[in-house]
Amino acid sequence: MPFAGASFSALVLGASGGIGAAMTGALRAHEGCEKLVTLSRSNDGIDLANEDCVAAAASRLSGVKFDFIFNGVGVLEVDGAGPEKSFGDIDGETMMRAFAVNAAGAALVFKYFLPLLNRDGPAIFATLSARVGSIGDNRLGGWMSYRASKAALNQIVRCAAIEETRRNKESVIVALHPGTIETPLTQKYAKGRYTAEPQECATNLLSVLADLTPQHSGGFFDYSGKEVAW
Ligand SMILES: NC(=O)c1ccc[n+]([C@@H]2O[C@H](COP(=O)([O-])OP(=O)(O)OC[C@H]3O[C@@H](n4cnc5c(N)ncnc54)[C@H](OP(=O)(O)O)[C@@H]3O)[C@@H](O)[C@H]2O)c1
Repeated sequence: MPFAGASFSALVLGASGGIGAAMTGALRAHEGCEKLVTLSRSNDGIDLANEDCVAAAASRLSGVKFDFIFNGVGVLEVDGAGPEKSFGDIDGETMMRAFAVNAAGAALVFKYFLPLLNRDGPAIFATLSARVGSIGDNRLGGWMSYRASKAALNQIVRCAAIEETRRNKESVIVALHPGTIETPLTQKYAKGRYTAEPQECATNLLSVLADLTPQHSGGFFDYSGKEVAW
């Protein structure tokens, strides 16, 4: 678990999601987690496609510092449009909306929430990406909006890690692939291919994070701790 033996404070964004809710549950049950704040679009109105919403949510927490921030926000389907099978399925607007949440939205989270990360000692900021965002691992094609927005997210995570390391050499900022998890996001697309339940996923991710050091900051890791190709 992160911060083994020490107490820590945590913030979960996307706490209404399958994995976000499981992470919230795991942190509530964690004896070291002395303070937990959760945020989501459905419960708190934080829409990552709207910068004012992100700014307002962060400003309500101004002065609070977190040792661990987890961003579990992401979209595969956009307003009912599923992932593309080929370029004939591309719709420019839909693709822009995927980028608005998965890439620009994650960048806004860094803009407004990174200042809330503890800068005086160990601190972790983990963002859920997806293995299909890996360019090196792409052998099947398709799912262009999701893949490309997650690839962009990975670059954003890397930039955030570089910037934060200059302020706090003990920070760890990473992108994580959670596995194929049974949640609303995968319901129509991953039947029979699940690698874990959301609760097990949260436990796996916490144990991966517990083993990461500042040298790993800026990396992309899967639920077993293996580095994922860019
Ligand atoms: N499940 C998997 O197998 C899998 C695999 C690889 C990567 N991932 C990644 O893991 C993350 C979580 O996935 P999940 O399976 O837990 O999905 P999920 O159950 O569909 O949850 C998605 C979360 O994203 C939030 N969200 C969506 N659009 C938003 C927006 N515009 N502004 C703010 N919040 C928004 C939802 O909030 P509301 O419900 O409150 O609107 C919800 O909290 C995603 O980034 C996904 O790409 C999942």
